[in-house]
Amino acid sequence: MTRLICVSSGKGGVGKTTVTANLGAALTKFGADTIILDANLTNPNLGFHIGIPLYPTTLHDVLKGDAHITEAMYIHDSGLRVVPAGLSVEDLRDTTPDNLSDVLLDAVGEPDFVLVDSAAGLGQESISAVEASDEVLVVTNPNLPAVTDALKTVDIAEETGTQVTGVILNKIKDHDAELSKEEVESMIGYEVMMEIPEHQKVEEALAKKKPVVHHEPDHHVAERFNVIAADVAGLEYEPQIGGKGIITRLLEKFR
Ligand SMILES: Nc1ncnc2c1ncn2[C@@H]1O[C@H](COP(=O)(O)OP(=O)(O)OP(=O)(O)O)[C@@H](O)[C@H]1O
Ligand SMILES: [Mg+2]
Repeated sequence: MTRLICVSSGKGGVGKTTVTANLGAALTKFGADTIILDANLTNPNLGFHIGIPLYPTTLHDVLKGDAHITEAMYIHDSGLRVVPAGLSVEDLRDTTPDNLSDVLLDAVGEPDFVLVDSAAGLGQESISAVEASDEVLVVTNPNLPAVTDALKTVDIAEETGTQVTGVILNKIKDHDAELSKEEVESMIGYEVMMEIPEHQKVEEALAKKKPVVHHEPDHHVAERFNVIAADVAGLEYEPQIGGKGIITRLLEKFR
């Protein structure tokens, strides 16, 4: 059965697209048939994170009823399938997320996972993405504005009957002014499934239009995405950090 998982946050810039691209890449590496879909209709950029060429048919065409979702699927070299959104302002006209749910249902059946990269904010665009999915992964950063917005996403998920599968605490700088994992968990009411440091390798990977899982597969930041993928997929996975790590090391503080 296909699992439809939305990656959402409330606040912008916290790392949703980074998580979607890397989780998609890691799931594919583990052999799961995976599609990632750019449901950020106003500011789409999932294509840049995974490195696909400009694609003639996009989610915008599908939402407008001009194409079937299979026509908007680009197959990445890794085997991961990517449904990009249109990049032009024209694409925005006459497109609403109203039938996103029906469009996603058309993608369900064959793949193991469909990951939906959501827009920031709590407007109709992001609510539709959460509503149309079975599960949500909430991405946040260790500061009050990001966690407060993440909490609103959790509220929306609970209202719409979408299961909160986990919280990913991203861009940790490891200084005293940051909220701790425990503080974030007590505010959000769900466990943090992974802590990811703010690391230059992630920016480097984006500059190369690759997820860090492809760019630096042995790096400890890449390993964190592998662990999230294994966790989500229910796979046993022993991460290697610097060739000698075990899972407890991975969950410890880094650097
Ligand atoms: N762990 C990390 N370390 C360093 N940089 C990161 C990390 N995670 C994300 N970034 C960087 O932060 C920026 C925003 O990330 P991303 O685009 O994934 O966020 P987003 O939540 O999808 O943003 P938006 O709300 O605009 O869609 C990007 O430049 C990305 O490379
Ligand atoms: Mg994004």
